[in-house]
Amino acid sequence: MPRKTPTALSVWRPLNLDQFLLGAPHYPEHVDESLRQRDAERLAASGANTVRMGEFAWNIWEPMEGRFSFDLFDRAIAVLGKEGIKTILCTPTATPPRWLTVNYPEVLRVDANGRVAGHGSRQHADTTSPVFRTHSRRITRAMADHYRDNPHVIGWQTDNELNTTASESYSASCRLEFQKYLSHVYPDIHAVNHAWGGHFWALAYDTFAQIDLPRQMAPGFISPGHLQDYHRFLAHATAMFQHDQVEILRAINPDWFIFHNLGNLADIDFRGQFGQDLDFIGFDIYPMLYDEFRRTGGLGPTQALHLDLCRAYSGNFIVPEQASGFGSQPGFSTMTPEPGEMRRMALSSVARGADGLMFFRWRPAHFGAEIYWMGVIDHDDVPRRRYEEATQFFGEMNRLAPEILGTHVRMDVGIAGADFDNQEAHKTYPMGMPSPLEDAILLHRHCYTQGIACGFIHPEDDLTRLKVLYVPHWVMWKLEWTARVDAFVAQGGTLILSALTATRDVHNHIPTEQAPVGLSALAGVKVYEFGRLAGPDASGLFPPWPDRYVGAYAPGSVPDAASASRKYRFSFGNQEFTAGHLYEKLELAPGTEVLGQWTNRWLEGSPAITSRKHGKGRVVYVGTYLTPELAAQLAETVCQPAGAVPLLPHLPEGVEVSVRQAEDRVLYFIQNTTDLTVLVKGVVAGTDLLTGQSVAGDLTLASYGCAVVKAT
Ligand code: GAL
Repeated sequence: MPRKTPTALSVWRPLNLDQFLLGAPHYPEHVDESLRQRDAERLAASGANTVRMGEFAWNIWEPMEGRFSFDLFDRAIAVLGKEGIKTILCTPTATPPRWLTVNYPEVLRVDANGRVAGHGSRQHADTTSPVFRTHSRRITRAMADHYRDNPHVIGWQTDNELNTTASESYSASCRLEFQKYLSHVYPDIHAVNHAWGGHFWALAYDTFAQIDLPRQMAPGFISPGHLQDYHRFLAHATAMFQHDQVEILRAINPDWFIFHNLGNLADIDFRGQFGQDLDFIGFDIYPMLYDEFRRTGGLGPTQALHLDLCRAYSGNFIVPEQASGFGSQPGFSTMTPEPGEMRRMALSSVARGADGLMFFRWRPAHFGAEIYWMGVIDHDDVPRRRYEEATQFFGEMNRLAPEILGTHVRMDVGIAGADFDNQEAHKTYPMGMPSPLEDAILLHRHCYTQGIACGFIHPEDDLTRLKVLYVPHWVMWKLEWTARVDAFVAQGGTLILSALTATRDVHNHIPTEQAPVGLSALAGVKVYEFGRLAGPDASGLFPPWPDRYVGAYAPGSVPDAASASRKYRFSFGNQEFTAGHLYEKLELAPGTEVLGQWTNRWLEGSPAITSRKHGKGRVVYVGTYLTPELAAQLAETVCQPAGAVPLLPHLPEGVEVSVRQAEDRVLYFIQNTTDLTVLVKGVVAGTDLLTGQSVAGDLTLASYGCAVVKAT
């Protein structure tokens, strides 16, 4: 099918496909050929239309340097194609074969301690390596040439979850590439010295060739400018690595769509070149894995958080890997979805912007480091409940696709997100404070639980559809964003700015103006003084040392310290709160109102939270960090009057709701994330598209039950 050129990256952007992709990643190289026909028939019978293949099979595509072999995949693609199943191919660069790492050992990734990656798992090659890039281009071209006219191959995934296992490299060639990058970005070495603060600790360089990678054994803390540029460089190198592949694929067949399956966003600037090169984003979803690893508050909010973060970069997306069952690698394992939960989690993905979804994986592997990562079909080739649920879900999506495609996810409360520089700026200088994301999660989780339409958005995106925009401690505020938020407020929006916003420039320098720089006129406040407080649930100031480079803040992880008793309190909306992490003493411009005040110690009586009217809207400034209680109060006192109210009046615990809409339709996605039957009251009048039944008022959802109500 001819490819439709995607529109500019935006959280509101629909996918540029007319079809809802449904299927599974498939590994024909892992199973006996005698099973292929039945696989194809079962896939077709389930309602699937697509498989993804080949991302780890470089040793099969190119068993010896320059000698290619396509037979195995040609046959697999043809058998599937005959049953109507299309194939997405992947460039196999996540797993270079052994001959490559033997013949070109310089492509191996090197860690911060100088240890060279061995051959034995995956993502062991250094994507910054020019030699590896040459091989990546070679294999991409060979595969693309071979499949140029294959009618069953419809698109490509680049690599697999770039940077998920490791994103940094400290190899000799990486150092050279870093120096080269800097010499393009900066006019001369003096500019680097200025940016990194060369006169601080005598760090200045005489030439680009003297510059090192920022190693942990520095042995003290690295200059934030140096660290920030290293991560900008890694993001640039990752984008260039992918760009090579995209250029080749587009030139060979312009009708193929191209995406990447993100696992996390380490050193990927998706709103930059990386995302601009692609048709859409793919985001792999393993809610049970994330929840256990990151302890983010339960399956429902965790999945919603990941999806909302991902959508902020580029709008609707596909899920190339959605957890189907129990999963494990040798060192960990996840909980197991209960009956009905696999479909529920899939519908939760659709509810938050998935316009295509594949269950990981069609069959489990019988060997290797993921033998217990279950698939849709079991090891003994018997389709059981996961096949039934996949079949049910695929059938439902095939029916609902015309309603769902073309809609965007409603968002009343937008949290500023998707900004690579601010994410990295925090990491260069975390000070044991929550990152912007760690702070924002508190507001996101509150909105999720209350059923308020909330997500993430970049300030350069279209803000007009929001009611509220919350900016979580973005230290690097670009001056050109001020005009955008000014217009948003003037037209009736509510902007909430939080402590430390707009306090550094792009080099992590602190400007000489009073904070928030570029925003103080709009907010009607200036920061007179700021100071550190213990986290509300912590007893001291420091994160554990090993985490000091990544900035993970660990509540309660250190023994009692005197600072713990220094609780600063403030009042806001008839309640008193204990402040967490930071206080700011604010100076107000005439006309700025006080919404909350500090109520004890030396700050007693000073404003803590302010509001300034501007045009039809207002700017609220919060001179501290969020706590769960403050997030709830902000939602009630600031978001609700701005029109950001729950989508349903009575959301029972464990039920989630979100809305996808287009000009002519509004779809309420309601999912029961619990194993108990629940009664949802006050549901809008309409038709549940999953059952065809009309709904108005009460809706009973059985264990993991879901409804997609099209409002009349
Ligand atoms: C993903 C990855 C897959 C597989 C899966 C389960 O992150 O892309 O290849 O490893 O996790 O572990």
